[in-house]
Amino acid sequence: MYVRPVATAVAALLGLALALAGGTTTASSRGTSAGAAPAAGPPARPAAGPAAGPAAAVRFQAGAPVLYAHRGASAYAPENTLAAVDLADEMGVDWVENDVQRTKDGELVVVHDETLARTTDVEVLFPDRSPWRVGDFTAEEIAGLDAGSWFRSEYAGARVPTLREYLDRVRQNRQRLLLEIKKPELYPGIEEDTLRVLEEAGWLDERHVGGRLVVQSFSADCLRTLHRLRPDVTTAFLGTPAVADLAGYAEFADRINPWHTTISAEWVSAVHGLRGAHGRPMEIDTWIVDAPDVARKVRDMGVDGIITNAPDVIREALEAV
Ligand code: G3P
Ligand code: CA
Repeated sequence: MYVRPVATAVAALLGLALALAGGTTTASSRGTSAGAAPAAGPPARPAAGPAAGPAAAVRFQAGAPVLYAHRGASAYAPENTLAAVDLADEMGVDWVENDVQRTKDGELVVVHDETLARTTDVEVLFPDRSPWRVGDFTAEEIAGLDAGSWFRSEYAGARVPTLREYLDRVRQNRQRLLLEIKKPELYPGIEEDTLRVLEEAGWLDERHVGGRLVVQSFSADCLRTLHRLRPDVTTAFLGTPAVADLAGYAEFADRINPWHTTISAEWVSAVHGLRGAHGRPMEIDTWIVDAPDVARKVRDMGVDGIITNAPDVIREALEAV
């Protein structure tokens, strides 16, 4: 269980005060300043270009990697729920990562596995619907599932959020989003669907696109499509392409986000040596780092961000040395 330390609470309050004043605070809160969300604009399609947004500029200023709460603060709260988002916020972590899939009737929901079995009570409520695939259930059916009890009884009643609900909460918390399109091959057209929801929720305006939103996927095709539809959106490819292949990824991605066990300082340096889809040096956010020694190791390799289930542990590890 995560116990909020007094120092963290004070830091969070200081961070909030600075954010309200328009400034930035720690490495984990680098980016554009937070503020009230503007109304969604028309569905413009700005062209990709070399102009670096505010987030890109500040990411390189400080030494410590940016922290991302993986599926929210998922070491302490049920993954991909609003409770996990809120807990990350309480910890002073303003980037959260999530996983987006599509229901049978076309609603986008935030859930990691291809099936609902591990993280909900779907097997109890729908015993005859094996294998309980996300895409075989309607939004209404999924909304009725308990996505918290499997984790701990105090979270009983937590729901699988729709992407709309999730975006509203992240924005309400003045957090930023690393949105993963999960298993796009199962959901033809999910790139358009995702962009539509982002647009309707006010997440494709200049402020969000400029520093509050990154879309990632294990699928290069998915990112190519997304980049074609909205070339202004920052994208990250999940994986560890060979150095010889990196230039191909740089055509549609700004970042390469690898599993931490697969990288070396040389590989990191090779990625940084390329310019991505927006003409900026490519960046690297590595996952899933929950151990202090690993965090220091990847920091020393030069990664730009660390995606972790336990942001408090990793922050402490990086502050210690
Ligand atoms: O953000 C990286 C990470 O989420 C990729 O793996 O399986 O947790 O979605 P997975
Ligand atoms: Ca993910």
